[in-house]
Amino acid sequence: MTANNPGAAQNMLSSQDVARIREDFPLLRETVNGHPLVYLDNAATSQKPQVVIDSLVNYYTTENSNVHRGVHTLSQLATEDYESSRGKIRRLLNAEKDEEIIFVRGTTEGINLVAQTFGRQNIGQGDEIIISCMEHHSNIVPWQMLCEERGAALKVVPINDTGELQMEEYEAMLGPRTKLVSMLQISNALGTINPVKQVVELAHSRGVPVLLDGAQAAPHMPVDVRDLDCDFYVFSGHKLYGPTGIGVLYGKTDMLNGMPPFQGGGDMIKSVTFEKTLYNDLPYKFEAGTPNIAGAIALGTAVDYVTNIGLDRISAYENELLEYGTECLSSIDGLRLIGSASHKAAILSFVMDKAHPHDIGTILDSQGIAIRTGHHCTQPLMDRFGIAATARASMSFYNTKDEVDALVKGIDRVIEVFS
Ligand SMILES: Cc1ncc(COP(=O)(O)O)c(C=O)c1O
Repeated sequence: MTANNPGAAQNMLSSQDVARIREDFPLLRETVNGHPLVYLDNAATSQKPQVVIDSLVNYYTTENSNVHRGVHTLSQLATEDYESSRGKIRRLLNAEKDEEIIFVRGTTEGINLVAQTFGRQNIGQGDEIIISCMEHHSNIVPWQMLCEERGAALKVVPINDTGELQMEEYEAMLGPRTKLVSMLQISNALGTINPVKQVVELAHSRGVPVLLDGAQAAPHMPVDVRDLDCDFYVFSGHKLYGPTGIGVLYGKTDMLNGMPPFQGGGDMIKSVTFEKTLYNDLPYKFEAGTPNIAGAIALGTAVDYVTNIGLDRISAYENELLEYGTECLSSIDGLRLIGSASHKAAILSFVMDKAHPHDIGTILDSQGIAIRTGHHCTQPLMDRFGIAATARASMSFYNTKDEVDALVKGIDRVIEVFS
């Protein structure tokens, strides 16, 4: 990943730091098929440090109770921890207020929430929503569903052969009918880091709000929603070393206040009669029903964990892994990297002349190496490159150059089997 902070290089994670960090992750000590696990599927989900696992266990063993509703001690403890986690996430994103942080199930739910509330309220017949060619299905399908319902149109910003957004085409696409831009910050399939600040500036200069999908960015680089000036930002806890089933929607206060609720139920109301319901204030207006309390608290622990290491150091170290991995894989005959943007995250997507991605994945798995194969929930992007699938190794700060070497050895084995 391209380091945003020039000072970060001096403060780079050393191999000793990484060795220490690895000890925090119990699953990294496991063997798979008789080999030490080499976990290179971090874009799908990351492993969890012991403190995050302990946080879940601790919640259920010492303070399990419902939030916001009880006067009893346990409920107060749970509420305090749940709300304190919201504050940690606000600081992680540099949002202005805690109430701008809405707990959701993940990126997918965050995007659907915006589509079903802001979208249904503001997007009508003949309006346009702009996304990019490299979006995850979760940033395509909710908008297609909305467009179908409202008679609106989806516009897709093309990319070049290296996997970079064509910014001139994007600018030309922004028009009087554009009602929203929704774009990912980092591509899960290519690793491209998009110039999202510029994407937001161009949209705002025409009065168009922007949602950023930060699923692959928030775990790997510092994110500042005020600097980006995006209207919405979403990410998933499970990719940020937290549990599954919890994620975050950030929204600017004015935007969130102007939107109708997503779901109705407990906690999202101030008062209910059969005649009329008054909705609660932010953030509760968007958190109907009992939330994933344990997940939210453990996500706060995960945020503490990464901020203690430092996202600028994480970003700089992962960039080193990317450079090393790119060099190694580029020198393999018959292997083609898909995605070579000048700004890239530590994701290596590739195809091979002689082996199908699924065969690559299976042979690597027999050596304890976990990668992902398939379309990565980006079928239109695969179509753009004229392929059905790739093999994808995605790295994290707990990975090492030795593990990249193991990947290369594994690929050598694939070549042997198919030659
Ligand atoms: C860029 C991007 N957006 C959205 C998602 C969906 O995330 P989730 O399944 O956690 O909701 C993913 C997951 O891989 C992703 O990589």
